[in-house]
Amino acid sequence: MDVRFERTEHTTVEWLTPPELVKQLGAFDLDPCTPVHPPFVHATHNFTIHDNGLAQPWFGRVYLNPPYGKGMEKWLEKLKIHGNGIALIFARTETKCFFDHIWHDAHAVLFVKGRIKFYTTKGEQKGTPGAPSIFIAYGEENAELLKNSGIAGKFLYLK
Ligand SMILES: C[S@@+](CC[C@H](N)C(=O)[O-])C[C@H]1O[C@@H](n2cnc3c(N)ncnc32)[C@H](O)[C@@H]1O
Repeated sequence: MDVRFERTEHTTVEWLTPPELVKQLGAFDLDPCTPVHPPFVHATHNFTIHDNGLAQPWFGRVYLNPPYGKGMEKWLEKLKIHGNGIALIFARTETKCFFDHIWHDAHAVLFVKGRIKFYTTKGEQKGTPGAPSIFIAYGEENAELLKNSGIAGKFLYLK
């Protein structure tokens, strides 16, 4: 097994979003959870684990692909409260996280068609997860940008 990708999404933290996908969503001001040595960045400002992005004030338009596993919902809760950004997580639509922070709070979602091929911190595109992905837009402008992104999938307004 490739140790750069661990067994399940519950133990993996380094699934890096393909930069071409993020570009389709427009420019972002902040990625609050960036690798310490990123092969690319998605936003103008970036917090790493050394900053603890969860404890920092967030600003502007946020791109969030959070560390997976226990505690992930704290990141979604913070984006919900911030109200301006787009998140990418696995489409575990039955979970408490979806019912507490997404279904009743986000403006729109896009269920991604097929499986995203994520990058490693070495900049190699070789990780295909065992779960589908979903983009979640908070704020009306982000919903429109997600709708018009051209990313293949099923877009749905939630509000
Ligand atoms: C799923 S990866 C996503 C990376 C990047 N946002 C992207 O989409 O390409 C989650 C990242 O969060 C980082 N991370 C973990 N805990 C963090 C924390 N407390 N504060 C900031 N970053 C953290 C990990 O090092 C990892 O790079």
